[in-house]
Amino acid sequence: MLTDTLDQGQRLADEALDRLIPLETEQPESIHKAMRHSVFAGGKRLRPILCMEAARVVAGSLPAGIDELGAALEMLHTYSLIHDDLPALDNDDLRRGRPTCHKVFGEAIAILAGDALQTQAYEVLARLKCPPEARVRIIEEIARGTGTIDGMIGGQVVDLEAEHTQPTAEMLEYIHRSKTAALITASLVSGGLYAGAKDSQVAKLQSFGRAIGLAFQIVDDVLDVTQTSEQLGKTAGKDTASEKATYPALFGIEASVRKADALVNEAFAELDSFGERAEPLKELARFLVERKK
Ligand code: IPE
Ligand code: IPE
Ligand code: MG
Ligand code: MG
Ligand code: MG
Repeated sequence: MLTDTLDQGQRLADEALDRLIPLETEQPESIHKAMRHSVFAGGKRLRPILCMEAARVVAGSLPAGIDELGAALEMLHTYSLIHDDLPALDNDDLRRGRPTCHKVFGEAIAILAGDALQTQAYEVLARLKCPPEARVRIIEEIARGTGTIDGMIGGQVVDLEAEHTQPTAEMLEYIHRSKTAALITASLVSGGLYAGAKDSQVAKLQSFGRAIGLAFQIVDDVLDVTQTSEQLGKTAGKDTASEKATYPALFGIEASVRKADALVNEAFAELDSFGERAEPLKELARFLVERKK
C-alpha cells in the first residue's frame, strides 16, 4: 500500500541520513548544524523512495544498503534546495516549514552547507555496497543528472535567466526536465542499477522517470498558486511574484493539471514488462501528481 511504501521509505532514508551526516557536535559545529537543519526538516524523501522502489521492482525486494544510495540522493536534493533558496537565486525565507538555511546560519554557511552535502553524497556513493561497475555507473548517472547539460544545475541557470521573460513552451519544458526531472530520473535509474537491472530495464526506468519527473515539477508550479505557505512549508505565490517561467503561467492551472495527469498515465506503459511488481511505483507516481505539498 502507498502509505506503507512512503512510511518505510521515509524511515529508511531518515535513519541512513542520521548515520551518514556528521553530528552537530562534530567540529566545525556550525556547518554540521546547518546541514542537519535543512535535511531534518520534514522533506517528503521522494527521491530516496523512488530509488528504493525502482530497486524493488528489479530485484523483488529491497537490496541491502539501498538506503545509503537513497540518503545520498536526498543530500544532493537538499543541497539544491539550500542553494535554490539563497538571495542570489529564489530568495526564499521558508523551507520545509522552517526558516531557510541562510536565514538561520547566514549566507556563507548556507552556501558551504550545500557544498558539504554534495561532497558528503559522493563520499557515500563511493562506498556503496554494490559491484564496482554498478557503483561507477550510478555515480556517473547522478553526476550527470545534477550537472549543467540537461541536469539540475543547467535547469536552475535557465530558470533564473527566464525570470521576467515570456518563455516558449519548449524552453519551459527544458527548464523543468533539467532542474527537476533529471534528478528524479537519476534516482530511479540508480536504484535499478544498484539492484542489477539489465539495460532494457534501465531504459524503462529512465523513460518512466523523465515523464513523472516533468509531471512532478508541473504540480510543484500548480501548488505554488493553489496552496498556502502553511500547507506547503514554503512561500506560496512566489513564482508569480518573481515572474517565473511556470506551467500555470503559460497554460493555466487546469491545462497544467491535465498535462501532469496525462504524463503519469502514459508513463505507466513503461512499467508493463515488470508486471504486478510495478504497482508500488505506479501508486507513487499517482501520489506525485495528487500530492498537496
Ligand atoms: C521541491 O522538491 C523542489 C522541487 C524540485 C520541486 P520536493 O517537493 O520533493 O521537496 P521536499 O524534499 O519534500 O521538501
Ligand atoms: C527548484 O524549483 C528545483 C530545484 C532544483 C531545487 P523551485 O524553485 O520551483 O522549487 P521550490 O518551489 O522553491 O521548492
Ligand atoms: Mg527555483
Ligand atoms: Mg525555489
Ligand atoms: Mg516551485
